[in-house]
Amino acid sequence: MKTMKKSILITGGAGFIGSHVVKLFVEKYPEYSIVNLDCLTYAGNLENLKEIEGASNYHFEKVNILEETGLVEVFEKHAITDVIHLAAESHVDRSITDPLAFVKTNIIGTVNLLNTAKTFWKNYEDHLFFHISTDEVYGSLDDGGFFLETTAYDPQSPYSASKASSDHFVRAYANTYKLRTLITNCSNNYGPNQFPEKLIPLCIHNIKNNKPLPVYGKGENVRDWLYVVDHARAIDVVFHQGVAGETYNIGGFNEWKNIDIVRLLCKKMDEKLGREPGTSEKLITFVKDRAGHDLRYAIDASKIQKELGWEPSLQFEEGISKTIDWYLNNEEWLKNVTSGAYQQYYTEHYHSR
Ligand SMILES: NC(=O)c1ccc[n+]([C@@H]2O[C@H](COP(=O)([O-])OP(=O)(O)OC[C@H]3O[C@@H](n4cnc5c(N)ncnc54)[C@H](O)[C@@H]3O)[C@@H](O)[C@H]2O)c1
Repeated sequence: MKTMKKSILITGGAGFIGSHVVKLFVEKYPEYSIVNLDCLTYAGNLENLKEIEGASNYHFEKVNILEETGLVEVFEKHAITDVIHLAAESHVDRSITDPLAFVKTNIIGTVNLLNTAKTFWKNYEDHLFFHISTDEVYGSLDDGGFFLETTAYDPQSPYSASKASSDHFVRAYANTYKLRTLITNCSNNYGPNQFPEKLIPLCIHNIKNNKPLPVYGKGENVRDWLYVVDHARAIDVVFHQGVAGETYNIGGFNEWKNIDIVRLLCKKMDEKLGREPGTSEKLITFVKDRAGHDLRYAIDASKIQKELGWEPSLQFEEGISKTIDWYLNNEEWLKNVTSGAYQQYYTEHYHSR
């Protein structure tokens, strides 16, 4: 690959994970130009990027990945050399009520972006298209075992079906047109900036406000959890050292049943809020299970660990503690994101992702 000044397009950079990736790249690589492209859906929030908004190597473009002309303009204006693609509809429950929105953004939007890169880039050797995906494409592990990079895709929800499809398109563009691509499949993320429709921020929000903590079924579903900054670090490592054409699983080596996470949050919040032990657990309310709820996801992240030397830096309890502190110290952020687009629905249901 030639050494040229990198101008990296990060899509979905105003969202939860994207904002941590943008911050890491802007701060760690002042020699790169970082272009955050995001259409600011309910999940996108520029407040997530206030620490770096004045940085000279940071640019923001409010564009929808469904708008082909908008994408071409951004590629031309910023002479984009590489793409890290995170923009997506990301919430399983929303995919159950509105699958088409997921087909549009996650599949058609990804193909639009692939087409723009394919047309705009002249010598593919000089460029990289890095697609961020999920472990949910592998389906549910109901009887033990772990997802490997070689595990066959078996998506079960409209969300995971749309992500699986986008992964296939990325591989198809690598195979057919010889685009240099990378794909990572990561487990559940938690940490600052996550919209409070997902399990951990929703529970923190509801415990603080003495609202019910709705738990699907019996809370037996198992997920692997990773602190979001560790995911951003993994993306940095794969972008710089990953072998083009490869897939890397990313995970926390950290499986938890949903009910155990909710209980841990209750315990920690009681301590932090000075409440009697056991107070917050009384808020737990079991509700009808999610349709087609996958029982267990568990990722084997040993390939990225062995080949690229990445591993999670934070223990789960430490990460949870930091996360609770962040939400308690950022009431204004929570108030802003929960007004307007936020609906009462999300105080009554919780979702693991
Ligand atoms: N959250 C997780 O635990 C997790 C785990 C593994 C992989 N992922 C993947 O990582 C990526 C980011 O996830 P997240 O949790 O940060 O999501 P998020 O919902 O918090 O953020 C998505 C961002 O994409 C933007 N966006 C959505 N549709 C768009 C469109 N049509 N055009 C332009 N921008 C658009 C939104 O405004 C938002 O800023 C997704 O691709 C998701 O599938 C998420």
